[in-house]
Amino acid sequence: MRGCATTWDEVAAVVDLVSREYRGRLDLSAASRVKAHDTASATARADEARNERGEWARGKTAKLPGAHGGATILTLGDGSKVVRKTGTKDAMDREQLAASVARAVGAPAPKVTRVAPGEIHQEYIAGRTGKQWAESQGQDAVDELRQTDQGRRIGLLDYVTRNNDRHNENWMVDRQGRPVAIDNGAAFSGEEWQGGDFAPVDGPDVTEDEARAARASLAALKPEFEAAGQAGWYAAVMNQINKQVQYTISEQAAGGTGDQP
Ligand SMILES: Nc1ncnc2c1ncn2[C@@H]1O[C@H](COP(=O)(O)OP(=O)(O)O)[C@@H](O)[C@H]1O
Ligand SMILES: [Mg+2]
Repeated sequence: MRGCATTWDEVAAVVDLVSREYRGRLDLSAASRVKAHDTASATARADEARNERGEWARGKTAKLPGAHGGATILTLGDGSKVVRKTGTKDAMDREQLAASVARAVGAPAPKVTRVAPGEIHQEYIAGRTGKQWAESQGQDAVDELRQTDQGRRIGLLDYVTRNNDRHNENWMVDRQGRPVAIDNGAAFSGEEWQGGDFAPVDGPDVTEDEARAARASLAALKPEFEAAGQAGWYAAVMNQINKQVQYTISEQAAGGTGDQP
């Protein structure tokens, strides 16, 4: 990958998305060293070099309980924690772009910072996994959670990204008792929608107005998908949200109440 021009162009596009503030918290000394070459690609090279030397992980890293893939907890210099995930560019694109889709549709999900083509850092959610929560609160409580605004929005996120992997170890309940969609690694699967913990196979519980508003926000993500070389995923997302808008219209025509079923 070193020495390949296209790769560095991709890296530069991605690095534009990384916030300066976060970067500063990660490694202040190295950040000042690269200041002289303050271009996106120089910064990306410095990031990659630091990554190869393991400097991102200067803090403590610990394996996450129940992690199957490359997820570890990284403790930053200031004591705060992030979840570090590594994998292929495509895998990291899924996490990054799904976080943007989540924001667009109003679904609670951890913030994602892309630090390299093959690495993201994700906001650490203090709380309990859906599994731990279901075991202590019971299945009725899960049904209630699904009907909250946040729960319905996670259903919409999963539907538009066709993420069929929203089982109870891929969502958490935060300290405020709200569901949060972690692990969006199965987003943009290209599979048929099969349903998940927050939306059944016939689709999420959102009104026509909500679906239309989500569609407008999703349309604004086109440049981000294109910059990542994932225009096909964007088209698939728009196809899903259009289906949802159509569904809510036909439901209202059939029911005549104007309410969600
Ligand atoms: N952002 C996060 N905040 C807190 N815990 C997390 C976070 N992401 C993952 N975890 C924990 O790590 C486990 C595995 O992470 P996950 O992202 O599901 O990776 P994978 O399923 O690929 O191993 C989760 O079930 C959860 O317990
Ligand atoms: Mg998982």
